[in-house]
Amino acid sequence: MGKILELKSIYAGYNDEVILKDVSLEICDDDFIGIIGPNGGGKTTLLNVILGLIKPMKGTIEFFDTISPGHNNRIGYLPQINEIDRKFPITVKEVVLSGLIYGSKALIKYSKPDKAKANETLDRLGICDISRSTIGELSGGQMQKVLLARALVSSPRLLILDEPNTFVDNQFEGELYEFLKELNNEMSIVIVSHDVGTISTYIKTIACVNRGLHYHNSNKITEEQLASYNCPIKLITHGEVPHTVLKKHDH
Ligand SMILES: Nc1ncnc2c1ncn2[C@@H]1O[C@H](COP(=O)(O)OP(=O)(O)O)[C@@H](O)[C@H]1O
Ligand SMILES: [Mg+2]
Repeated sequence: MGKILELKSIYAGYNDEVILKDVSLEICDDDFIGIIGPNGGGKTTLLNVILGLIKPMKGTIEFFDTISPGHNNRIGYLPQINEIDRKFPITVKEVVLSGLIYGSKALIKYSKPDKAKANETLDRLGICDISRSTIGELSGGQMQKVLLARALVSSPRLLILDEPNTFVDNQFEGELYEFLKELNNEMSIVIVSHDVGTISTYIKTIACVNRGLHYHNSNKITEEQLASYNCPIKLITHGEVPHTVLKKHDH
């Protein structure tokens, strides 16, 4: 058990526009962090910083102990689905295998163990039967499973998911969260969701991201706390458990 990575006072954005301001966050083994916040608040940008896809303007990001037993790759990533071109003619198997590319290889040739690992991961997610389908043929739920398989195929120490509940039905969503709970015994998880109510029983802690970041060291959060964290989302509570989070309307 230990620290996986630490962000210290990160400023990041695009071109000259600063989106994230003074963001600090520590991610450790065993964590299950839910990232919530309004649309455009900078949640995906934060993930991009963690993944090294954008370079911070200011601040530091430090990774600890890159090689840990049983884990080949540091981070598995499930991107937000609307950022993926579904018309791209690639099969499910190829998508899953692409989770095993380290660095940039000009010519990719997968080894036998790579292919075995891909099959094993497809099997674990119960989607062997669609391995030869192209991604354009898949339903939303199937697509999320394929992306999850891709993120998991490298046995990462940290799994990051960006709104995996988009375009899926309730049954799949429940299944997904149960599976993540089980996976949390093997790896740390960071999940972006606009629905803190549903994820609150699975996550351990909450990070509110709205340009800044406020870390909440519990899976229970009240509307007063959200307001004090400058996180303009609304909780609809049913009894004690928050049920749904909606964006606050301006009008
Ligand atoms: N590639 C990009 N180039 C320029 N601006 C971007 C880019 N991606 C996101 N943004 C802007 O950064 C802000 C935060 O976006 P994002 O991190 O995607 O928010 P969230 O994931 O919380 O909805 C938004 O105002 C968005 O328009
Ligand atoms: Mg986003």
